[in-house]
Amino acid sequence: MKLIIAGATSLLGTEIVRQSLHIREITQVVALARQTVHLDESIDSSKVRTFVIDDYGQYPDDVKAEFAGADACIWTVALTPLQADFDFTEVKRVCQDCTKLGFEAMYEAGPARPFRFIYLSAEGTPRDPTNDPVILPDFFIMRRNTELMVQRFPTEKEGVEVCIARPGVIANSTTWSRTLVVNLFRIINRFGRTLPNIQRSELAAAVLNQVMDGFEKETLLNADLVRLGRRELKLRSTPRL
Ligand SMILES: NC(=O)c1ccc[n+]([C@@H]2O[C@H](COP(=O)([O-])OP(=O)(O)OC[C@H]3O[C@@H](n4cnc5c(N)ncnc54)[C@H](OP(=O)(O)O)[C@@H]3O)[C@@H](O)[C@H]2O)c1
Repeated sequence: MKLIIAGATSLLGTEIVRQSLHIREITQVVALARQTVHLDESIDSSKVRTFVIDDYGQYPDDVKAEFAGADACIWTVALTPLQADFDFTEVKRVCQDCTKLGFEAMYEAGPARPFRFIYLSAEGTPRDPTNDPVILPDFFIMRRNTELMVQRFPTEKEGVEVCIARPGVIANSTTWSRTLVVNLFRIINRFGRTLPNIQRSELAAAVLNQVMDGFEKETLLNADLVRLGRRELKLRSTPRL
């Protein structure tokens, strides 16, 4: 399978790239990033081709050519209002416009049929258009509209399958403060997952499983992703006969 990973240096994208190196079924990885992608040197990473692009809204011809024949894309690109100093125009451009432009560039290049596109959103993004969010309404309405836009891709383009993944907080141990949060979640989760969260490794495994095996449903909630991710990691750790 040929997989495109958009946002290969994101918190999640880094882990997806790392795990894809260990999956035999994935034979080619097109990793899109704005900066150098650091690959695990202890393992053969020859199946990964990294393309450093200036922006997720523009794709030079040589990059577009790489999209041809792709079986799937995992789209992790996003920007929060805080990261953009509350420049909402930029937040919308990165979160919504680039998703559309990226998808269109991939489709124009002639991907495989079906072409599976999984879009990372977030648990809690309001779906009900009659019930606008109170906190950061512009941002959450834009994220909702982006989900709706992605859901329309299969009606606009033949041979496309889409899925919206809605994780809660992505727990990871990349820094000491994040390790602290992970441990806090571990304790909270013992009493029930009241604050939706997921281990980064589980989320990466879940989305990789879904692009390989097909989408279980159009929207995957945090609980679905935890279940799928755990199952996938367990399967991978079981020795093959
Ligand atoms: N982290 C969480 O707890 C959490 C929770 C729920 C949902 N999610 C969703 O899951 C997805 C992945 O999350 P993440 O935490 O892995 O994301 P992240 O680390 O913040 O990275 C997001 C990606 O977007 C790119 N990006 C950021 N600002 C940009 C800009 N101004 N122009 C172009 N590209 C830009 C980043 O590129 P660079 O690497 O080059 O900066 C990176 O590839 C996102 O859709 C996010 O909303 C995350």
